Amino acid sequence: MTADRSPVLRRVVAGLVAAAVLVPLLLLWQTSRAPGRFSVTEAGAFERGSGPRVTSLEGHAGHDGGSAPAATSVDALVAPPGPPDVTITLTARAERVQLAPGTATDAYTVNGSTPGPTLRAAQGDLVEVTFVNESVPGGATLHWHGIDVPNAADGVAGVTQDAVPVGGSHTYRFVAADAGTYWYHSHQVSHEQVRKGLLGAVVVSPARDASPAGGSEVARLLEGAVDVPALVHRYGAVRTVQGAAGDLPVVVPPGTAARVRVINSDNGVLPVWVSGASFRLLAVDGTDVHGPPEVRDQAVVVPAGGRADLLVVAPADGSAARVELGGASAVVVGPDGATTSSPTRRPTATLDLLAYGTPAPLGLDPDAADRTFDYVIGRAPGFLDGKPGMHWTVNGHTYPDVPMFEVAQGDVVRMRIDNRSGGPHPMHLHGHHVVVLSRDGVPASGSPWWTDSLEVADGEVYDVAFLADNPGIWMDHCHNLPHATEGLVAHLMYAGVTTPYLLGHETGNIPE
Ligand code: C2O
Ligand code: CU
Repeated sequence: MTADRSPVLRRVVAGLVAAAVLVPLLLLWQTSRAPGRFSVTEAGAFERGSGPRVTSLEGHAGHDGGSAPAATSVDALVAPPGPPDVTITLTARAERVQLAPGTATDAYTVNGSTPGPTLRAAQGDLVEVTFVNESVPGGATLHWHGIDVPNAADGVAGVTQDAVPVGGSHTYRFVAADAGTYWYHSHQVSHEQVRKGLLGAVVVSPARDASPAGGSEVARLLEGAVDVPALVHRYGAVRTVQGAAGDLPVVVPPGTAARVRVINSDNGVLPVWVSGASFRLLAVDGTDVHGPPEVRDQAVVVPAGGRADLLVVAPADGSAARVELGGASAVVVGPDGATTSSPTRRPTATLDLLAYGTPAPLGLDPDAADRTFDYVIGRAPGFLDGKPGMHWTVNGHTYPDVPMFEVAQGDVVRMRIDNRSGGPHPMHLHGHHVVVLSRDGVPASGSPWWTDSLEVADGEVYDVAFLADNPGIWMDHCHNLPHATEGLVAHLMYAGVTTPYLLGHETGNIPE
């Protein structure tokens, strides 16, 4: 008898144990699933920040039932009217491209090439881009990485517009207010569309009357300098600069300066160093470095999405200087046929932006911040949209239950980015540049370090500040784009701004 009963009992107990484990798991799974359609403004937990001087967000229509009439749609946050100074049509296609002899790749092109054409404007120009999606399946958009465009032109599918379907078009208008190096890329299924080449460089030259921040010697060098966009991108196994495998030659007489605008459009860091010459780091993420000293044998680490403008001078002895791009290729600056030393190893020293250049006023007072936020990046087991695994967390939550950092226009905002996730993350805030105040408690001591793509290594803590002067709803995410797909995304939202656009599988808008 006992021999009969115990298997039954065992089965019952086993069943109960299984249920005790499975039911909570099922609940977790169920609650983790993102709705088929949802507004970004209803997704996460609102955070209003803390700090010495938290200004009121009252009087704005918030998510929590404020008075609706005050609400501003993202669609209303546009560039001023008037005739544009620069107009261009950018047409995206799915096609096969030849990047190196004998290798054809399925790619996305813009006006027939990848990268697409370099968009050039002068500071202050009103730019009008007509984007046409000829054949990119699932829709596409253009986002202006690093340019503080008005929110309606930000190009984020499901937040500031709907993805542009095949056969559709969309017009972007913005003022190129800041000179510098930027880039454009799709912000629809961006982890795939950027990888496959739906991108290009943007160069905004200084207004004619502007004088360079680097002092008279830099100004003199820049007078006759050649301007070289160097967008680095990896298509599968093919590493390219400006769309071609191998080195990019810049043929100039000895003594000529070149401004090499390195753009890292990949998902990992790009170390850049110069062999055969010294260099100056002129600008980071589109902002001039103040008083950039000449350096040699140091690597500049460009985060995913980031830019670094290097000033190099072709050596007087007729040899060439090599701007090494991660060791895979180089921009070679010198006379035709100049003997270029073969690729060199990355120098052991890394240029530290925390102490490079000389201090200058920030234009904001971080000690009188109106709002202070934490952006704590972690990793925890759980479900993300129904998928089990280890997932990124922001302030302890997984996507879409991630923070919505709410600010008022005019706020001085501080943010502490604290990475406890076990890996590095290149953090990118749309629509604003942040200035680095400290890293691991060590205050910045060099030039103001304004950035839009900040590499935060595991275990690092960065304090940054910015001025909330560009109303809208802005992504604040990891630019290792597969990480964004895995939920490393939060948003910055101005009180009273709403969006008519929706996210979720049923909408076709998939910004990550
Ligand atoms: Cu370069 Cu959210 O993007
Ligand atoms: Cu990341």
